Amino acid sequence: MSTLTEAREAARQVTDALLRVAYRGAYSLAMAYWFVRRPSIEGVFVGVWHGRRVLLLQNSYKRQFSMPGGGPHAGESHVQTGLRELREEVGLTLDAAQLRPTYDVVDWDEFKRDHVFFVEVEVEAEPQVTIDRREVVWAAFMDVDAALQLPLSSPVRAYLTEAARRRAPPTLHFIQPGHALYPEELELRFRVLREPLGFPRSAVTFPFEAESLHLVAQQGTQVVGCVLFHPEDALKGRLFQMAVHPSLQGRGLGARLVVALEQELRRKGFTHVHLHARAAVVPFYERLGYEVYGEPFTEVNVPHRHMRKTLGSSMFPGGRSQEA
Ligand SMILES: CC(C)(COP(=O)(O)OP(=O)(O)OC[C@H]1O[C@@H](n2cnc3c(N)ncnc32)[C@H](O)[C@@H]1OP(=O)(O)O)[C@@H](O)C(=O)NCCC(=O)NCCS
Repeated sequence: MSTLTEAREAARQVTDALLRVAYRGAYSLAMAYWFVRRPSIEGVFVGVWHGRRVLLLQNSYKRQFSMPGGGPHAGESHVQTGLRELREEVGLTLDAAQLRPTYDVVDWDEFKRDHVFFVEVEVEAEPQVTIDRREVVWAAFMDVDAALQLPLSSPVRAYLTEAARRRAPPTLHFIQPGHALYPEELELRFRVLREPLGFPRSAVTFPFEAESLHLVAQQGTQVVGCVLFHPEDALKGRLFQMAVHPSLQGRGLGARLVVALEQELRRKGFTHVHLHARAAVVPFYERLGYEVYGEPFTEVNVPHRHMRKTLGSSMFPGGRSQEA
């Protein structure tokens, strides 16, 4: 580093430190004002989520960890405030369409009535964040359970607690038509398997729904994954209607559903499973120990392959080649 660059860096660090002191001063003044006036104000926070990991930050003037956010400017919607705060505080530029209002709470901390609104965005990968080291001194993604162990303001804690519950890992249940989750299962099958191909809702159900096993993955009140099995005799049957909600694809849920279904099939004495795999999804089933057989064919206007698997002992519950 040249002497000039070093000098600039040192000057920047001094300026940053002075501005941090200024922020702390301004915050103390604001607290004094709130103490006297007891105002009613509004604030907006943005939950930037990647799975169960959320973007947290720390302001230079507060001990508690927080999230990107601040007070709305005149005429701004909550989403617009969220977008601006994301740009200003962590250097993230997102589209308004990506943010959705999710939660709000009224807080009485710091001598003011604060109506706090939360908007949320899901990101496919954790973006690089940039902070000014003046107002914001730290920012990073963190697992929501770890985040809840940190000192947090009460609105942020209330929101993260609610969000953690909503984002709890899906639980798996075997259900039958008539179960409260069955309409949700049909909705998922329509959205993931039929609607993208231009088929109507009436094309979702099969004549053998009632005698099939239905394994669904439930998250909150939503069905986010499913797989069905139609027994053809006491030993074999067809796996069908395998679907995972787009927001959760690629995170292991599909494999979890197939493994759990196979465990139940073994328990019931089934030894052979076959299925019609969309050609693009053949590798997914191959990873789970299924093999291609027969000639390619077309179903629902999509190229397909026949695949099958012999269920071995349950010694290899994640079974791959051992069981093929
Ligand atoms: C296909 C589908 C059910 C897979 O579920 P998922 O939860 O996304 O898959 P998982 O995360 O459990 O993947 C398990 C493994 O298969 C791989 N995999 C998943 N989908 C794949 C694909 N389309 N092509 C290649 N590999 C794939 C994953 O990379 C993962 O590999 P790893 O074990 O090495 O990490 C899901 O993507 C889906 O619903 N797709 C749309 C509907 C569909 O095509 N259904 C199947 C009709 S036959």
